[in-house]
Amino acid sequence: MALTLGIETSCDETSVAVVEDGRRVLSNVIHSQVDLHRDFGGVVPELAARDHLERLPQLLDLAMDRAHVKPADLDQLAVTRGPGLVGCLLVGVGVGEGLAAAWDKPLTGVNHLWGHIYAAMLSRPDLEPPLLGLVVSGAHSDLVRMPGHGRFEVIGRTRDDAAGEAFDKAARMLGLGFPGGPALDRLARRGDPRRQQLPKPSLPGLEYSFSGLKTALLYRLRDLGESLTEQDRADLAAAFEQSVVESLLEKLDRALEEAAPREVVVAGGVAANTLLRRRAAEVVGDRARLTMPALELCTDNAAMIAAAGHYSGRFPADVDPSLSW
Ligand code: KG4
Ligand code: ZN
Repeated sequence: MALTLGIETSCDETSVAVVEDGRRVLSNVIHSQVDLHRDFGGVVPELAARDHLERLPQLLDLAMDRAHVKPADLDQLAVTRGPGLVGCLLVGVGVGEGLAAAWDKPLTGVNHLWGHIYAAMLSRPDLEPPLLGLVVSGAHSDLVRMPGHGRFEVIGRTRDDAAGEAFDKAARMLGLGFPGGPALDRLARRGDPRRQQLPKPSLPGLEYSFSGLKTALLYRLRDLGESLTEQDRADLAAAFEQSVVESLLEKLDRALEEAAPREVVVAGGVAANTLLRRRAAEVVGDRARLTMPALELCTDNAAMIAAAGHYSGRFPADVDPSLSW
């Protein structure tokens, strides 16, 4: 049995987790900073970093207590080294290095994007690579092949906005608060996408683009102006959501045809979206087995970082804000 302590501070969630053998979550304590950033309409990096630093000690105690684990029981520590906000990453890595030295345990630096894929393995303990993955988050919309543990190859990505970023910006245009994605999801449930026409982005190959769709929504709102009703807003949210989701899945479908994998993972914050969860299951059908992490494991958390740290081998905990696959 191997116990990994995970630390995640790349953006606006502070999280500490203990995971057994990379699969079983013994504890996963998450503190979201949404209340801190709400009035600013987005994440303020300096506030985020300071809040991570203030909350980590308490979250660490909670995670260890809930897992009934003492420092001596741990086999290793795993901390997000990127991608993310530099000040936030520095806090997590600094605390990880300090604890590793004090407790005399090895520390590994984890790629946050890998973490999102590994979240699926916490939700389905028998899931093994090779697999085809779609990671949709606030900063990424990436299609990847994972031939084995700790090995990833990007086969598709976005040319401009990430899916989560597009949802957040659309939510702001629709007058929804921060964070936008979940609010847009809720509003879309009351709308009918057939009542508002928005284009479905379509690029060749496995590339995504959401900027045209965003502009289309902006113009539509401008045209409606004062006459915009509550129902229009809900219908526009539904139409926007449908365009993003169908665009994401069109490329997943193409990648599935090309690679014929047995396992498919759809993960990242946007994988919490209601329509994406339903439609992904329909699109994949019986061609492959689809795994989407449990809702609380889709958005940022330290359990997925611990799982990735367990499986992907040891890497230096060097902060790299623009780390890619
Ligand atoms: O993976 P994540 O927690 O953080 C990053 O690594 O970026 O993803 C956050 C993104 C945000 O853009 C948020 O609006 C979006 O995921 N998101 C959603 C939903 N829940 C979170 N987007 C659409 N529908 C949701 N239910
Ligand atoms: Zn993330």
